[in-house]
Amino acid sequence: MYQHALLNRTLRACVLRRTPTTSLFPSRKWRGWLIVEAIEPVSTSLLLGTGAAVLGKKLYHYFYETCDENWLNFNATGLKHDLSTKLYGQHVAAQVVLKAVTGFMNNENPKKPLVLSLHGWTGTGKNFVSQLIAENIYQKGMTSNFVHLFTATAHFPHEDHVDKYKTQLQEWVRGNVSICPRSMFIFDEMDKMHPGLIDSIKPYLDFYDNLNGVSYRKAIFIFLSNAGGEKIVEVALDFWKDGREREEIQLKDLETALSLSVFNNKNSGFWHTSLIDKNLVDYFVPFLPLEYKHVIQCGLAEMVSKGHAPDKEVVEAMARDLNYFPKEERVFSMQGCKVIPARLDFYV
Ligand SMILES: Nc1ncnc2c1ncn2[C@@H]1O[C@H](COP(=O)(O)OP(=O)(O)OP(=O)(O)O)[C@@H](O)[C@H]1O
Ligand SMILES: [Mg+2]
Repeated sequence: MYQHALLNRTLRACVLRRTPTTSLFPSRKWRGWLIVEAIEPVSTSLLLGTGAAVLGKKLYHYFYETCDENWLNFNATGLKHDLSTKLYGQHVAAQVVLKAVTGFMNNENPKKPLVLSLHGWTGTGKNFVSQLIAENIYQKGMTSNFVHLFTATAHFPHEDHVDKYKTQLQEWVRGNVSICPRSMFIFDEMDKMHPGLIDSIKPYLDFYDNLNGVSYRKAIFIFLSNAGGEKIVEVALDFWKDGREREEIQLKDLETALSLSVFNNKNSGFWHTSLIDKNLVDYFVPFLPLEYKHVIQCGLAEMVSKGHAPDKEVVEAMARDLNYFPKEERVFSMQGCKVIPARLDFYV
């Protein structure tokens, strides 16, 4: 209605003037007439105002992150590509993550939030995979306002304050999911997290339609920990000792390593929580310890990301100086790929 009225006013402001010229308009109908636009101040300012509002809205969507397809779009091909080209030595994790995230994101009406638990030795790519997932859902990746990373030691350092943390965490998750249902929450260092804390968000992970008017079904929760890491190493080492290919390791070979009994020790944040026995975790994702050849791959990628030409000799020199275990065999990198960015600087 408003735009109609505006259009009419503007049309009325267009005056048809008789002119002696006949050559400008080839059509008979228009011959001898020129349209002259008279500038009518009210209409013009209204038009400009509307234009500015539309432009403003566009700019707002452009600069301000909103919870819609402008900023949030799942790229299944991108995730598949990233997992197969950027993540090294994690064929089991890559497969599970791709299947889990793709299935979940393609479902417009999931019954519960996606809950992933990533386990493994240090520096094997758990945070890195969370980052790849975020980058293929949110345009701003890890810096998105809809991605929340909690680190036990940084965010919940004092055991005495657990009750306060519980309330804050519940409020944070509830508030953010009500702003954006497709929010992602990453809990790092689960091993160091007070079990009560995770218990406090447990209802959000379950099959509830909504809790106090908020539905958590479209959210993603990712837990990262080293729990089960040693058992995963044992499996990988057994394969190596038997002369079998690492790529032969299947998820089922690692299931015992990720079983409940492994988490029943007090070094694990899952300890006496009912996350596991209530089946709230959809996928346990094992990360294998990385070998020398993966360290080389990480090193070459790091050189490129630092703007250098990849140089195998430089990376090999760095990789040789890292620590490997078991001491005799030197099969797996002690720190995975974690120290590479810092170490490489000494060798470039
Ligand atoms: N499997 C991998 N493939 C490629 N790069 C990797 C891999 N693992 C680690 N990296 C590199 O090393 C960095 C550190 O790894 P990341 O933080 O993901 O380890 P983590 O498994 O979370 O270790 P921690 O248990 O100590 O927290 C990553 O940012 C990435 O650059
Ligand atoms: Mg980590």
